[in-house]
Amino acid sequence: MTQEQHEASFLRKIEEEVKIEARDWMPDEYRKTLIRQISQHAHSEIVGMLPEGNWITRAPNLRRKLILLAKVQDEAGHGLYLYSAAETLGITRDELIDQLHTGKAKYSSIFNYPTLTWADMGAIGWLVDGAAIMNQVMLCRTSYGPYARAMVRICKEESFHQRQGFESLLALSRGNEAQRKMLQESVNRWWWPSLMMFGPSDSESTNSEKSLLWKIKRQTNDELRQRFVDATVDQAKILGVTLPDPHLKWNPERGHYDFGEINWDEFWNVVKGNGPCNKQRLDARVKAHERGAWVREAAVAYAEKKKQKAA
Ligand code: 3HC
Repeated sequence: MTQEQHEASFLRKIEEEVKIEARDWMPDEYRKTLIRQISQHAHSEIVGMLPEGNWITRAPNLRRKLILLAKVQDEAGHGLYLYSAAETLGITRDELIDQLHTGKAKYSSIFNYPTLTWADMGAIGWLVDGAAIMNQVMLCRTSYGPYARAMVRICKEESFHQRQGFESLLALSRGNEAQRKMLQESVNRWWWPSLMMFGPSDSESTNSEKSLLWKIKRQTNDELRQRFVDATVDQAKILGVTLPDPHLKWNPERGHYDFGEINWDEFWNVVKGNGPCNKQRLDARVKAHERGAWVREAAVAYAEKKKQKAA
């Protein structure tokens, strides 16, 4: 087949909702942008373990500790699924990890904020995983087969993540004055960075046009952000918290909540590496990778030995 015929057949598959599989012909740019997005998604899952891991030893009781442990372990699994999905596109795990450690690859800005109180564990589950779910449910219908299938499995666990976060905040909202104060203070810190998770506004999004054409994305950054706001405002009322945005107001004409302007300087500052915890997060990842080298070497040596025996 000629290049044109390949392109035409690829676009027909996209049109007819036929999943693109690893062995199928695909435009180099499609492959490249998928490696970019899936690997950064995987990095986000792995780096996302750090802010929560910080509180496992300080959970208020055994039940909360077990829930948090389970959630952090889930995130590790999500990262491994997504690294495997990225590898189907012809990049190695070592290259992916190197891109993260050298700062060549991004991960979600949200994980560069500190977790200062126990309420942050609930706010992350409720807001961060809540935002992630909005985006990931859409990605279950992404055109690349391995990514879509990984998403289906991951979304099942994400709903537990969001529910446990909300439930933990509900307990605080029914607590004493100090607990309610800690809850409100945490929501004040996590609300706006959670809205930034959906990416820049549509007019600033450099990848969206192609991602929408190729059905990698099914909705735009602003559409998903709006859906998240609409879904979350009423939940905030149940928690008895005020969301830190005086412009938040139901707009009957739009059928959505209006909300204030996001601080895009803060967003790009964090994305560029100058957030409160960027350096700490990358240092932790590099150190963990170095400390784990012996496990990888042992596994490779064992596999070699097994291969020699079988030969
Ligand atoms: N943090 C860091 N970088 C971001 C970002 C964010 N919140 N939002 C956008 N960016 C980057 C993009 O990666 C892109 O840079 P690049 O071209 O170098 O990759 C640039 O800003 C412009 O943004 P675009 O809108 O053009 O980029 P995309 O079309 O890729 O859209 C996205 C951004 C919506 C995040 C999309 O990449 C996506 O859907 N990714 C998959 C989902 C994901 O990664 N979620 C992150 C959180 S995962 C998580 O929270 C796990 C949960 O278990 C806790």
